[in-house]
Amino acid sequence: MGEFKRRSHEQEKPSVDIVRAAPEDAEAICDIRDRAWLKAYTVDAPDLKITEEDVLLAAKGPDDRFFKNRVEYLKKRLAEDSGQNLWLYVAKIDGKVVGYTDPSLDDRGRRRIGAMYVDPAQQGKGVGGKLIRQALEALGRDQDIYLEVVEYNQNAIGFYEHFGFVKTGNPAPPEEGRPEYLVTFPEIEMVLKAQKKSHVP
Ligand SMILES: CC(C)(COP(=O)(O)OP(=O)(O)OC[C@H]1O[C@@H](n2cnc3c(N)ncnc32)[C@H](O)[C@@H]1OP(=O)(O)O)[C@@H](O)C(=O)NCCC(=O)NCCS
Repeated sequence: MGEFKRRSHEQEKPSVDIVRAAPEDAEAICDIRDRAWLKAYTVDAPDLKITEEDVLLAAKGPDDRFFKNRVEYLKKRLAEDSGQNLWLYVAKIDGKVVGYTDPSLDDRGRRRIGAMYVDPAQQGKGVGGKLIRQALEALGRDQDIYLEVVEYNQNAIGFYEHFGFVKTGNPAPPEEGRPEYLVTFPEIEMVLKAQKKSHVP
């Protein structure tokens, strides 16, 4: 019985490939982020109400303007990138992009994970786990790694805690130049502390 259960659980996890993103992945990347936002950021709590319309406007902009611009910008950056400045990885199942992450250095030189998104239809199947392991490998574990997460996004906070991140208690830096008609998602900062070198006497 135990054996049967273990096997059927394993069968639920598809085979996931993690590869460097290519220009032709840009549209799938932007689409996955928007659909993941819609699922994760819509909220109707007593003290906070953010509707699907609010999230869609923040994601895509009026007349989908942001979406088209983001796809073009990303396509161009991926085409120009020689691998030094843009560490963008996609997860693929059967050749289809189902998630992505972008480990990077922030403007203070701190190591950072800026994005971690899995297609809502593929969440809970091991894709995010593979992506975060790749991001941590790319960044290295000899320095602290930071990220920001929406404060009511308990699913993502639990996911990051599972991989050792803790809340710093510092406010996330405000996003500059954001038009006032767009909703702001309240964010917190988390950190994965550097692994201490073991001192061999
Ligand atoms: C958060 C997210 C990236 C996780 O990806 P996922 O593919 O669903 O996660 P996985 O199935 O790969 O889980 C990986 C591991 O984390 C664990 N985990 C996942 N969510 C967890 C949670 N909320 N609490 C505790 N552990 C969790 C899993 O049990 C699994 O553990 P294992 O490797 O020991 O088996 C994904 O749900 C997502 O894209 N959410 C919407 C977008 C988002 O919120 N992104 C973060 C923005 S900052």
